Amino acid sequence: MKGEKDYNLDVVINQREIEQRVIELGEIISQDYASSESPPVIVAVLRGSVYFVVDLTRQLSVPFHLDFMGISSYGGSSDPFGVVRITKDLEVNIYGRDVLLVENIVDTGLTLNYLLKNLYTRRPSSIRVCAFIDMKARRLIDVPIDYKGFELPDLFVVGYGLDYQECYRNLNEIASLKVKPKEKN
Ligand code: PRP
Repeated sequence: MKGEKDYNLDVVINQREIEQRVIELGEIISQDYASSESPPVIVAVLRGSVYFVVDLTRQLSVPFHLDFMGISSYGGSSDPFGVVRITKDLEVNIYGRDVLLVENIVDTGLTLNYLLKNLYTRRPSSIRVCAFIDMKARRLIDVPIDYKGFELPDLFVVGYGLDYQECYRNLNEIASLKVKPKEKN
């Protein structure tokens, strides 16, 4: 597997499963937005969801506008009160528009909760959420997910946009990562 170093990578969702699920999600989302009055605004959250949103939007049969939001969290995932801040805001005005927020993973839910609160202040017509991985076991706050790729147990996963210290984002599969035990001399 690309980029393997001092870690064990065990594939939990393979490339074929990812591709198949993305096709299914694209069909469902296309049907749901087929009767929208104006093209929905797809908001992808930087940076990890880039891989997913590129694949997903290529499966859509409805028109859409694509935009991005950059987010940075202070305090780390172990801090339930970690502060989230916007590092890149939308360029599209979402007032009165249907919004589809695309995340690669919902873990504690803090990022999504912050984003939804922030986006609702802009008075969109609707917001739906599409998350490729739902790690419900790690949730600290209840958040809605309208479309999900897969639900996974509490694992540290990388690939398909998910990184460990900026490595492994480009894996074509999702893998759990464990530090290799040190070999005895
Ligand atoms: C990941 C992911 C979500 C967030 C979810 O981003 O893309 O935005 O974490 O975690 P939460 O549910 O616990 O809030 P990350 O902070 O790893 O940034 P990156 O996408 O730039 O790697």
